[in-house]
Amino acid sequence: MIKKRIRELLEQLDALLVAHYYQRDEVVEIADLTGDSLELARKASTSEKSKIIFCGVGFMGQSVKILAPNKRVFMPKIACCSMARMIDDSYFDASIAKLKEYGIAEIFPVTYINSNAEVKAKVARLGGVVCTSANASKILQYALKQNKKIFFLPDYCLGQNLAHDNGLKSAILGVDSQEKVQEADVICYHGFCSVHQLFTPKDIDFYRAKYPEILIAVHPECQPEVVKKADFVGSTSQIIKYVQSLKDSQKVAVGTEFNLVNRLREPKGEQNTFVLSSTKPECPTMNETTLQDVLRCLEAIQKGESYNEILLDSEIANLAKQALDKMLELS
Ligand code: 13P
Ligand code: SF4
Repeated sequence: MIKKRIRELLEQLDALLVAHYYQRDEVVEIADLTGDSLELARKASTSEKSKIIFCGVGFMGQSVKILAPNKRVFMPKIACCSMARMIDDSYFDASIAKLKEYGIAEIFPVTYINSNAEVKAKVARLGGVVCTSANASKILQYALKQNKKIFFLPDYCLGQNLAHDNGLKSAILGVDSQEKVQEADVICYHGFCSVHQLFTPKDIDFYRAKYPEILIAVHPECQPEVVKKADFVGSTSQIIKYVQSLKDSQKVAVGTEFNLVNRLREPKGEQNTFVLSSTKPECPTMNETTLQDVLRCLEAIQKGESYNEILLDSEIANLAKQALDKMLELS
């Protein structure tokens, strides 16, 4: 009943229902478009629909609004990414000042898409670019051509994992010594994902001891010690493709958000697809959005009421767009 009403309103309002893979099943099942953060930014911003109902976290909805300023973007629930909240424009400025204090004046900034519009605008002002977990390697290759030290923010894990893959030195600003930062090719901001921090090397050891043939697939937001031990590292959609490509009898333990892993279990059964954690790795804010929220949001739009609409300062949005457009061009 509620699903039918949502579909009717979406049609009437010329709206597209978009859901990140980490959303609850009930939301994913009814969405017009599901995907990882790169796919959603690209496809939602180029869709024909004039309104986007975005079930995900704030930076994802903002990315669509930045790329398609003429569309109206609404969030059925106010939901923030804890990592994106770890940096704002003042912390960005403080980091740049710290780097200058260390004698590092020339940097090329790369921000993970998990950051707000103001931070993306700051990065654009310095000529930098955005990346997602799906295109981070390509963006790093571009960044390396700038012949400057790379300042990677906010996720130190993704930054260090990328550096390690490419044989580069990395350090974390504010954690590692001044000398280590000065020597690093990739200097990382000290942000992280509270969900992906839950996976540990011990979890991998546990599964390998129990099932010697098991494969381990993890998201690059996991800690470097975890990523180094994994068989496969990839973005949300890359993990899905990898797991789906395995034989049904192949056991695999997956280090990313619970809703996604649980959905991957369905065709293969619980005995072959495992959550790589002793706790349930749910993204708390991603899990907040319900079908009731989607309906409430659509009903409010129909009545002409405001409802968690994403509105951005045009100067900030224009700058942030430069860094996002550059990413899309490169990926
Ligand atoms: P993806 O780019 O893989 O969708 O990741 C976004 C995210 O927030 C993962 O925690
Ligand atoms: Fe942010 Fe982590 Fe949630 Fe992804 S899983 S949205 S990085 S808090």
